[in-house]
Amino acid sequence: MMTVFQNKYGYFDEEGKEYVITRPDTPRPWVNVICPGDYGLVISQTGGGYSWKTHASLNRITRWEQDLIRDDWGKYVYLRDDNTGYFWSLTWKPVCQNPEFYQVHHGIGYSKFISRNYGIRSQLTIFIPKDDPVEIWWVELTNESNQEKTLSLFTYLEWGLGVAPDSHREFHKIFIETEFDGKLNTLLSRKRFWELPNEKGQHWNRDWEYVAFHSVNEPVVSFEGDKENFLGMYGSLQAPAAIKKGRLTNSCGKWGDAIGSLHNQVKISPGESIQLVYLLGAVKKEEMTRLEELILKYQNLKTVEKAFTEVKRFWNQLLSTLEVKTPDVGFNLMNNVWLKYQAISGRIWGRTGYYQAGGAYGFRDQLQDSQIFLLIDPDKTAEQIKLHAAHQFPEGRVNHWWHPLSEIGAENNISDNLLWLPFVTIKYLKETGNFDFLDEKVPYKNGEEATIYQHCCQAIEYSLSKRSKRGLPLIGDGDWNDGMNAVGFAGKGESIWLGHFLYGILKDFTIVAEKYDDVNRAARYRKEAKNLKKAINDYGWNGEWYIRAVCDDGYVMGSKECKEGKIFLNAQTWAILNDVADEERAKKVFRSVEKYLIREYGPILFYPAYKKPYPNIGYLSRYAPGVRENGGLYTHAATWAVLAACKLGYGEKAYRILKSFLPPYRGQNPDLYKVEPYVTPGNVDGPDSPNFGRGGWSWYTGSAAWTFLVAIEGILGIKAEWDGLRIEPAIPTEWEEFFVSRQYRGATYQIYFKKIQKEEAGIYIDGERLKGNVIFPHGDGKIHKVEVFFK
Ligand code: GLC
Repeated sequence: MMTVFQNKYGYFDEEGKEYVITRPDTPRPWVNVICPGDYGLVISQTGGGYSWKTHASLNRITRWEQDLIRDDWGKYVYLRDDNTGYFWSLTWKPVCQNPEFYQVHHGIGYSKFISRNYGIRSQLTIFIPKDDPVEIWWVELTNESNQEKTLSLFTYLEWGLGVAPDSHREFHKIFIETEFDGKLNTLLSRKRFWELPNEKGQHWNRDWEYVAFHSVNEPVVSFEGDKENFLGMYGSLQAPAAIKKGRLTNSCGKWGDAIGSLHNQVKISPGESIQLVYLLGAVKKEEMTRLEELILKYQNLKTVEKAFTEVKRFWNQLLSTLEVKTPDVGFNLMNNVWLKYQAISGRIWGRTGYYQAGGAYGFRDQLQDSQIFLLIDPDKTAEQIKLHAAHQFPEGRVNHWWHPLSEIGAENNISDNLLWLPFVTIKYLKETGNFDFLDEKVPYKNGEEATIYQHCCQAIEYSLSKRSKRGLPLIGDGDWNDGMNAVGFAGKGESIWLGHFLYGILKDFTIVAEKYDDVNRAARYRKEAKNLKKAINDYGWNGEWYIRAVCDDGYVMGSKECKEGKIFLNAQTWAILNDVADEERAKKVFRSVEKYLIREYGPILFYPAYKKPYPNIGYLSRYAPGVRENGGLYTHAATWAVLAACKLGYGEKAYRILKSFLPPYRGQNPDLYKVEPYVTPGNVDGPDSPNFGRGGWSWYTGSAAWTFLVAIEGILGIKAEWDGLRIEPAIPTEWEEFFVSRQYRGATYQIYFKKIQKEEAGIYIDGERLKGNVIFPHGDGKIHKVEVFFK
């Protein structure tokens, strides 16, 4: 097999659909976030990780504590040679036996661990069937020695059952009850306490609403529900007392420290292979029949095989609706596979990772993420818009975040959240042309019905009402940058970035309002936009770049006079993207960005970093200098610099910037970069950090969807506009040919780009020359061939 982007820890397979890790000691846990909708799990290359249903923090199935250095909380399978007493684990942790062979294949919707110890080859495939709340651990053991082997398998997991982290374990364990159901060959676990208010608003007086189960398709020899029995007092997961002994005590009940372990024994002749299937899942308490059905269903190996094929097919179909083929292999595999998978499985469905165990919806976060669906399944973007609209208050403000399951949400004065609602709605309309969507009704948080149009208008009106005397938006408790949470706390601070953002929305929404026959509003927004642009250019321009914000106390952030926080990226990129700066000024702005912010590993959020906390700015100045929002590369924001370069027609520069932070390339220096080469990290340390270039916060980042968008809309230049699909690539000079297949308003466009020397440049659709560069929608369900000849 051909390997791609090989480094000392692993490589991509030829198609880029699997990342294969070849040794367990990667510089940080390299994980997979597997969530096909509701039930989910995270698993690292050592076997660490956790499982949940619906909410990764409020509804944890298994316990896990965040420790990225030890990475030693997981669900494990031990193997014991019953003749010799030697034991090891199918994943490297917890025994940490030095395997003769070790490979982890992180795939789309599954992870597979292959290893070889003491003559036994083992393969553990972990996946979640598309529509069932259960994870499957599919084990295959092959005896590669020349002796018959009697092997014991022991599983191990610690029950969480509810809110995590349950750091007060001595309290929580009292509510858990485990049971072995002999008929089902299954451990069941319940908890008669859930640290959530109940429907009546009563404090924590409720059952955990589920039953968790752990089952196996072969009769068990023994089982265990108690941690002390398993590990032994002062024992360890690396060498548990029960494994040394080779037997469990069959204890379950209310009085233990609840774990789950199942023991099976198999005999395998030389050359022979056997398979076992373990299940872990949870259903509602009243769904006991479903539980039995699930267990029976997946005790059958054929069904397991089929479910595995189906879940792979599901992902393949979803991800293959948009395909690119360019001369850049890293660009291709990220856009064809991993960015979409990260955004959907990790951010939208799972909403969690290793650096942040989440579960909530961020108002601005998942709305932005849902843009990934615009290009592959726009109905899902519409669903997300509706879900977020339902978390808006009638006056227009919104929940900063909220928890599914409990509906508890944060209310604050962060000023940009609400505007992402019209922002994504506008993009949905450009993509689909479905203006009927504006009439769909979704209640506000108080139950009052409103159309999507009204929801959007209320968001804009609320923003317009929160402006300073100078006509600039008030930043409130922060804008996109959460860490600027003190800038406008007292209600005076202004945000220039928010001005750029609002300006773009006002311009686009003028068109929406016109199409909606709301002519007065259209006229008003047009005027507001004009005034806002003037205010930004009058008060926000310092001669070479735009300032970022003005604090309550009048301190100007991001100006030439500042020693720290002199120039901020977002205040520049969005001025270019939304035409707040005219062409000459936009070019000047970009030159300043290049001078101060574009660094070896990508564009940093601002420069220089704050070296000490500034109480008038907020917590971003409290981070270590150069880390995360304090002058690091914040990948989410870095993508907008790529887009700004594209907007200015700087194809070569745009591509170089993107490549400088694209994970497969950064993964070529894994001991500096540290994080996974197959998904985007939230941040990379900037030049003011001693760890300049080190990645962090992987998986759970809004940069996945944005990196995809800037690649497709910016670099490849295929962008949905009001009237059609605009073709305007901004590519590097070395690209001679590339291809994109994309769906648009009910038709498929196969777009072939070709550099030509002599002939005339131009675009042809189905052989006919197009006037201009916008493809008007065919909407005929057919495939259309588009040829783009460029010089
Ligand atoms: C975090 C937040 C996101 C915010 C960003 C920048 O990623 O989830 O909403 O925009 O930080 O502060």
